[in-house]
Amino acid sequence: MIVKQARFLKSSTELKGCPPDNLPEFAFIGRSNVGKSSLINMLTNRSKLAKTSSTPGKTQLINHFLINEQWYLVDLPGYGYTRMPATERERMMKMIREYTLKRQNLVCLFLLIDARLDMQKADQQFLHFLGSNQVPFVLVFTKTDKITGNRIRQNIAAYKKTLLESWESLPQIFLTSALHKQGREELLEFIQETLS
Ligand code: GTP
Ligand code: MG
Repeated sequence: MIVKQARFLKSSTELKGCPPDNLPEFAFIGRSNVGKSSLINMLTNRSKLAKTSSTPGKTQLINHFLINEQWYLVDLPGYGYTRMPATERERMMKMIREYTLKRQNLVCLFLLIDARLDMQKADQQFLHFLGSNQVPFVLVFTKTDKITGNRIRQNIAAYKKTLLESWESLPQIFLTSALHKQGREELLEFIQETLS
């Protein structure tokens, strides 16, 4: 898959406001600050397409990007940011759940996980939500440039072990670094295959 064109289309506060669902769509989800917006910029090779920030809670809306005039990439707000007021957090979670369950053209969710951390409660809860609703997803470990290869292997092995305590099989797994562009080809190839 070669990304020839990538343009921002629209930010929506809820599912109702999203662009028409007539093109296949891939969405990025995960805890606040895990690197969703950075990964979208890395994949599209455009450093400022999606807004990133070192402070959690940057993306607050459903952001649609149109790629090659053929498919959508979606940047979603992060979940699990404990410093956000509870009512605001709940509103955002409701929006994420509604989008995930009802967006008809959603082909696959990319669930981003910080490669440095043990399984976090918010991720465990979201995984449970995906499983009980049979939402198609893959796991994307982020920020691999921040730890050694050995630690990554250990962490992922531990993650798989925990997953297999409640899942019958493992989802597809990708390792990425937005900084080093690791995982770019693999993710784009996955999208290409899924689309064809
Ligand atoms: P929210 O929109 O707040 O939910 O965050 P997000 O998941 O979109 O994260 P974002 O892409 O804004 O990145 C958060 C911070 O992590 C920024 O300071 C990024 O520069 C940094 N970051 C993201 N990906 C990587 C990576 O692969 N490597 C390194 N070293 N830093 C990264
Ligand atoms: Mg973001």
